[in-house]
Amino acid sequence: MKCNTCNEKAVIQMRQHKLALCSEHFLEWLPAQTQRFIEKYKMFGPGDRILVAVSGGKDSLSLWDILCRLGYQADGLYICLGIDEEIAYSAESQRLTEQFASERGLQLKIVDVREEYGETIPGMASRTERGKHKPCAVCGLTKRHIMNRVAREEGYDVLVTGHNLDDEAAVLLGNTLNWIPGYLARQWPVLEANRPGLVRKAKPLCRIYEREMAAYALLRGIEYIYEECPFSKGSKSIYYKEMLNKLEHDRPGAKLSFYLGFLQAKEKGIFTPQADPDIEFLHACPICGQPTSSPGECAFCKMISKFN
Ligand code: AMP
Ligand code: FES
Ligand code: ZN
Ligand code: ZN
Repeated sequence: MKCNTCNEKAVIQMRQHKLALCSEHFLEWLPAQTQRFIEKYKMFGPGDRILVAVSGGKDSLSLWDILCRLGYQADGLYICLGIDEEIAYSAESQRLTEQFASERGLQLKIVDVREEYGETIPGMASRTERGKHKPCAVCGLTKRHIMNRVAREEGYDVLVTGHNLDDEAAVLLGNTLNWIPGYLARQWPVLEANRPGLVRKAKPLCRIYEREMAAYALLRGIEYIYEECPFSKGSKSIYYKEMLNKLEHDRPGAKLSFYLGFLQAKEKGIFTPQADPDIEFLHACPICGQPTSSPGECAFCKMISKFN
């Protein structure tokens, strides 16, 4: 297998793009693709202050690396969730994130959930009805709240996450299997700050396969946490990813065309933001000021009030 650019030995073959590349050309190609999507979906510009949510995993650390290589001004945010019961998951991901930042002289902010809100994620989960069944739901709610709060308080123009194509296709599969109009209306590579209290959010890797991100991290020598979060075992999103991988195995490119077809349909006006049934009920939470569709306080502030 030869590199399509230079004819040297290829290290990766991307059947969906009918493209094979050597290490050097793959490490050029991936940031160039990312830049193309940043521009296509108008995520941010060269002068914007960017906050990258970094989990210690391959996607978000590689994204931070790519943004720096592309010349953007990007700081990191690590949220310590305190998931250290079965394995030292949070402690190890924090160590790897700190190591990444210090080796490159990058600014990293750390928010410790227990220090700020009195409980770790497993603690919050065990003390709430919602969390007993779904710790990940409590975790997602908390992460979203903190990411938005820090980006807003510190005046960042945009918050970016490392969601890749496999993540987005799995979310889309869940949203279409259940036909959730609000979620379909909101799913997009960039979410505008179209409500007071909301910061713009972007997913620059949304069209890049997870496999390509793993190859990038490896070839760039980025040390990241291999373990999945222990709470994600048996989750629906992992199940959907497995289904999509089977499909991809038989029909290379299936994952990409599923997600891309959805984006193109949205560009033609299907599932517009107006189709979101929750949008008219959004108001500012009286405690934290972030938009919510639940009556009174937002779901996060309601949950936190139980711990104080
Ligand atoms: P996940 O929901 O774990 O698939 O993560 C999706 C994205 O959310 C990651 O690529 C990160 O950008 C961000 N993220 C997840 N966990 C954390 C964390 N503990 N701290 C900061 N960002 C995170
Ligand atoms: Fe939040 Fe797993 S990372 S529950
Ligand atoms: Zn080459
Ligand atoms: Zn609130």
